Amino acid sequence: MKKNIKKDLIMAPMPVLIIGTYDENGTPNAMNAAWGTQCDMNAITIFLSKHKTTENLKQKKAFTVAFATKETLVASDYFGIESGHKVDKIKQAGFHALRAEHVDAPVFEEYPVTVECKVLEMADDEDGYRLVGQVVNVVAEESVLDDKGRVDLGKLHLISYDSATHSYRVIGDVVGQAFRDGLALKNK
Ligand SMILES: Cc1cc2nc3c(=O)[nH]c(=O)nc-3n(C[C@H](O)[C@H](O)[C@H](O)COP(=O)(O)O)c2cc1C
Repeated sequence: MKKNIKKDLIMAPMPVLIIGTYDENGTPNAMNAAWGTQCDMNAITIFLSKHKTTENLKQKKAFTVAFATKETLVASDYFGIESGHKVDKIKQAGFHALRAEHVDAPVFEEYPVTVECKVLEMADDEDGYRLVGQVVNVVAEESVLDDKGRVDLGKLHLISYDSATHSYRVIGDVVGQAFRDGLALKNK
């Protein structure tokens, strides 16, 4: 039997995106964001409240997005519960930042896959910002690529944010092939 559970929206899986920015002194910062997604072939949108990160974004017009993994979970959560306004989170986490090749934003060595973005839009409303970033480059550790040079999620141990229970889950098994498995019914 189905039950109304009011407006407890579960839009799963939500990502665990780590937004990397520099401040005006060149100090790297990282924040955790789950309210984001790919919104075009080469664009990412993220919904943001006001943070140290949003100040940095306004100034530098650039950011990186890394994907949190099981191995980087503790630091990734920390980046979501502490502010760069108060501490140097990167130092505290023992992470290492290098300047991205194409944008004025940091790439953290510890994350296997990072997207470099330029700020396309940063629409301001009462609650915060709707950020749209144009993807200009993706950097990935060779160890998480398949033999065709594509990111292999089986090797990445990507985590997802479960907003129902405030937990993190690992993205799991391959259970089918898109654009193919449905053909069984189409051709019936
Ligand atoms: C799992 C998780 C998801 C989050 N998602 C978002 C988000 O999508 N947008 C947002 O504005 N804040 C989000 N936050 C909160 C920020 O990461 C948090 O306020 C952080 O301290 C901001 O860092 P900063 O001040 O150094 O920029 C999230 C936090 C956690 C733990």
